[in-house]
Amino acid sequence: MTQRVLLIVSGGIAAYKALELVRLLKRRGIAVRGVLTESAKQFVTPLSLGVLTEDHVYGDMFDLKEEREIGHIQLSRQADLIVIAPATANILARMAAGIADDLATTILLATDKPVLAVPAMNVRMWHHRATQRNLDTLRSDGIHILEPASGAMACGEYGKGRLPEPEEIVAEIERLLSFVRAEPVEALPFSSGSERPSTGSGRTEVLKGRHILVTAGPTHEPIDPVRYIANRSSGKQGFAIAAAAVRAGARVTLIAGPVHLPTPAGVERIDVETAREMLTAVEAALPADAAIMVAAVADWRTADAADQKIKKDGSGQPAPLALVENPDILATLGRHAQRPALLVGFAAETQSIADHAQAKLMKKGADWIVANDVSGDVMGGDSNAVQIVTAAGIDIWPPLPKDQVATRLIEKVAHALADRD
Ligand code: C5P
Repeated sequence: MTQRVLLIVSGGIAAYKALELVRLLKRRGIAVRGVLTESAKQFVTPLSLGVLTEDHVYGDMFDLKEEREIGHIQLSRQADLIVIAPATANILARMAAGIADDLATTILLATDKPVLAVPAMNVRMWHHRATQRNLDTLRSDGIHILEPASGAMACGEYGKGRLPEPEEIVAEIERLLSFVRAEPVEALPFSSGSERPSTGSGRTEVLKGRHILVTAGPTHEPIDPVRYIANRSSGKQGFAIAAAAVRAGARVTLIAGPVHLPTPAGVERIDVETAREMLTAVEAALPADAAIMVAAVADWRTADAADQKIKKDGSGQPAPLALVENPDILATLGRHAQRPALLVGFAAETQSIADHAQAKLMKKGADWIVANDVSGDVMGGDSNAVQIVTAAGIDIWPPLPKDQVATRLIEKVAHALADRD
């Protein structure tokens, strides 16, 4: 069966590359229907896009003929995948805010299909906090984001923000389409990105009826009322996993340390501060079919947190800080009477990654350890290179955005739970 991509082209200097993208997709037998935003028409004409797609090009929401022949709801539903390439900072912002003020954004709000956004913009616009905040929102809404490439920009600056090469975009489109290939919707391995949990329509629920427990973020261990011991964990990977599990139909309990992230739609979130609170919340959330322990739990806490702020005593000597070991939540679950059928730990390492992960598997009684090299900017960053260590061997994944690591991991969890039935 021919697969169909609805390609939304928004207005940026990289819009011309959309034509090459269409050519490559058509060569692979993928049908493409084009939507141009008003500003995209400054860069690409409806005629050139229409010739390549061999279809009408849509653009004007209030074109009565278009509305009569095919409404925006139908446009948004008749594709297997919606791709926005290039996606400008502006369209990403409107998507993140749920604004529907033209045909493209109305389609994006109305769709129940997976959505891939391929941003391209000036390097400063890419790194702007507003853009990064919008991207975080879109990721937690389940939108797939293909990160831009780095290099010289049309505006003369250098850095991240270039549209990836069309071949790279095609590879990502084919990867996403592979989840909707050959099988009826109900039998898909997981529900694809943009399918909002709240809609319930068209979702593929391979984890339906399952309870998945996820821990995420750091813990804070108080020293006194104003100071604490912490680490650099952002919680992004754990939140992305919780979101992916909901999209796969699971009931998800997310036990979160102190982080500044929005709660993914459909997730039950319990906020905690310390390792001991996290352990209590985890045990209270049992039973679960799978537990994925992503939190960077502090190994140590102060033996006695002071009730009052610790003052300098004038001696020049720092106040002594006695530490005691925190409970190991993962290891506790590993030997728990209500141990989840699948227990997954994470291991942040800076060296001998696989060896340390292998040892951790045994020590903690986990089924899998997802080992990641945190010597770069993984903690707080948006991508992650992981190795999944199991009793059967090691599965090495390429560096991927954290939401894609999450989606793949949830697919693997779904298969493992199905195998255990
Ligand atoms: O021993 P290490 O901290 O490297 O182990 C990491 C794994 O163990 C992660 O899955 C983390 O969530 C979990 N962990 C835990 N409780 C601790 C320490 C780590 O659950 N006190």
